Amino acid sequence: MGLFSRKKTRQAEEVDFSNLPRHIAIILDGNGRWAQKRGLPRTAGHAAGAETFRRVATYCKDIGLEYLTVYAFSTENWKRPPQEVETIMSLLEKYLYEAIERMERDKVKMEFFGDVSVLSPKLRDLIARTREISRHYEGCQVNICLNYGGRDELLRAVRTYAEAYRNDAAPELTEENFSRYLYSAGIPDPDLMIRPGGELRQSNFLLWQSAYAEWYFTDTLWPDFTDREIDRAIADYQHRDRRFGGIKV
Ligand code: FPP
Repeated sequence: MGLFSRKKTRQAEEVDFSNLPRHIAIILDGNGRWAQKRGLPRTAGHAAGAETFRRVATYCKDIGLEYLTVYAFSTENWKRPPQEVETIMSLLEKYLYEAIERMERDKVKMEFFGDVSVLSPKLRDLIARTREISRHYEGCQVNICLNYGGRDELLRAVRTYAEAYRNDAAPELTEENFSRYLYSAGIPDPDLMIRPGGELRQSNFLLWQSAYAEWYFTDTLWPDFTDREIDRAIADYQHRDRRFGGIKV
């Protein structure tokens, strides 16, 4: 029993770095509980979560991951107390200021999924600058979902498609055509979706793109998330048998 569990643990953490998933998506969950457990305000949990994001994104870049997408603020998160929303927005501002300074060195591309038109002028300006700088880079791409909701994304795509062909005959609507109207246009679907924080739900995240993603759930709260935990998730993924609806031949 002891030997079995040791072996299992070792196998579970061994990553084949020559065969990584191309795209990992993460729901950043558990910040509030992390803070409450320490008798701190929830906002302290978000500050810790932003640091964890910085660390994990750097690790993902260093191991050669192509795409990392994180769910930072959903279309439903506006329901939170205004002070909490403000803190998250100012953490994002701080993060983007610093990221812009380091982009030259890090060569990380950044994109944003979601309706950013309703964000503050300062944030919108930072997003525009980050996007502009990113156009010159080829490396790891980090997508931050901000004011993002999967259903909202699908409705917007349908509306834009209908509008685009209001006066012309529309081409056949295939999955491939339709994907071009999503925030994720041109980006491969996530292979691995990670949800820390112990909840077992999708929460309106990448509804279309996650059709064949492998999920990894863990009780670890997001601020406690480490590079080892990323390794564990990747190793776990590498032991899955992805059949995409087919059968193993
Ligand atoms: C969910 O945890 C987390 C959020 C709604 C906000 C995530 C935002 C950040 C980490 C800050 C900035 C992000 C970046 C990318 C720099 P929760 O509050 O729902 O936690 P709980 O379930 O424990 O209450």
